[in-house]
Amino acid sequence: MNQNKVALITGGTRGIGKAIATKFAKNGYDVVLNFLRSKTNAEKTKEELESHGIRVHLVKANVNDVDNIKDMFREIDATFGRLDVFINNAASGVLRPLMELEESHWDWTQDINAKAYFFAAQEAVKLMERVGGGAIVALSSLGSIRVLPNYVAVGVSKASLEAITRYLAVELASKNIVVNAVSGGAVDTDALKHFPNRQEMLESGANNPAGRLVEPEDIANVVYFLCTDNANMIRGQTIIVDGGLSLLCR
Ligand SMILES: NC(=O)c1ccc[n+]([C@@H]2O[C@H](COP(=O)([O-])OP(=O)(O)OC[C@H]3O[C@@H](n4cnc5c(N)ncnc54)[C@H](OP(=O)(O)O)[C@@H]3O)[C@@H](O)[C@H]2O)c1
Repeated sequence: MNQNKVALITGGTRGIGKAIATKFAKNGYDVVLNFLRSKTNAEKTKEELESHGIRVHLVKANVNDVDNIKDMFREIDATFGRLDVFINNAASGVLRPLMELEESHWDWTQDINAKAYFFAAQEAVKLMERVGGGAIVALSSLGSIRVLPNYVAVGVSKASLEAITRYLAVELASKNIVVNAVSGGAVDTDALKHFPNRQEMLESGANNPAGRLVEPEDIANVVYFLCTDNANMIRGQTIIVDGGLSLLCR
């Protein structure tokens, strides 16, 4: 039986997911990195994280498909025999104004960002129960509580993710599983390349009371903290990491 604790990070091979995976690797966790498209990128990240002396297992799975999710957790069980942390980081979404959104766009976005979280959490719980508990953190964004251009489908999916977080936190508390979410201001990852107003987002994102853009590591530090004993009494919350941006009235 593996002795290190094990953390699963969906979409863990690039962007914010990679920063989170690195944080867990540096703290002695073995990590499972889920990815979908870029195998080369995944292999590169695996190699980088292995330099921290921990085990890294890659799982190619489309979280849009609940059968794929179940297979992913079967693979984790077969490889490590345990799971202590589940980070729901993978996300996608169609960025269009309200009147241009079609049913398929809506379903795609809700399925990857909200439905996948719910059904992956169910599977994670089955493994965490065996080790006496664990921690779950989901990644959200400010569009869950604020109205951003072209963001309606993603914003609603993230609001759903935050609501799921609250329900999981209460229903799983008796199993010693701590559940929270971390939301962020704009972070300069590949995700932002899909936004027509990328430059404006970066400029306004950096124009916060803290005076600089949020880095992937800023998010990773808070995600990691929420999985430590020091955060044991924080339950079902969405912690905003935006340098104070959302406090301003603009
Ligand atoms: N960037 C921001 O400004 C920002 C701000 C606040 C919150 N967030 C949240 O932080 C999280 C990470 O964001 P990011 O900017 O790092 O995103 P990103 O660079 O776009 O990366 C997205 C990740 O999700 C994976 N993914 C997408 N669809 C998938 C699917 N169907 N199945 C499995 N994996 C899938 C991708 O895998 P592949 O590499 O295989 O394609 C990739 O690893 C997201 O939840 C996002 O909403 C981001």
